[in-house]
Amino acid sequence: MKTIDLRFTINGAKERVSIPPHRTLLELLRDDLQLIGTKEGCGHGECGACTVMLDGVTVNSCLVLAAEIDGRSVTTIEGLRSGDKLHPVQQAFIDESGYQCGFCTSGVILSTKALLDANPHPSDDEIRQALAGNFCRCTGYTKIFESVQAAAKGLEGDR
Ligand code: FES
Ligand code: FES
Repeated sequence: MKTIDLRFTINGAKERVSIPPHRTLLELLRDDLQLIGTKEGCGHGECGACTVMLDGVTVNSCLVLAAEIDGRSVTTIEGLRSGDKLHPVQQAFIDESGYQCGFCTSGVILSTKALLDANPHPSDDEIRQALAGNFCRCTGYTKIFESVQAAAKGLEGDR
């Protein structure tokens, strides 16, 4: 079978793989690298469950060919914590109960991180806009929204 060689950075570590050219980034993460914190919901760009950061920008990993990450940097939910310490966004979602089943949560947290990296003091509308691509079937969004607000406050205290 034809394969392609890729070199990239995943959660701060250099990685090298040889994979079939049609592999998606989502498949690479879950099936080849065992990073199963990234979830597959719809599989075609509608739900945001598979959201990861590619060079600091959120993407739906089900829509990205793994070949596109050659030479680039990917961050998944597994890459947010520092040692045993959760990232402030992760901690805020725990403190504010911003999840129920948790299936959407990795994607929501990464969208939140990307938002707060770019805009530390988002308005309510900007939070809604940033999370518009992340569907949650459980929470009704109120707790998610409160978690993002708490994360912004927590990060402000860290600055
Ligand atoms: Fe990728 Fe739904 S699984 S957007
Ligand atoms: Fe269940 Fe969001 S917490 S889908």
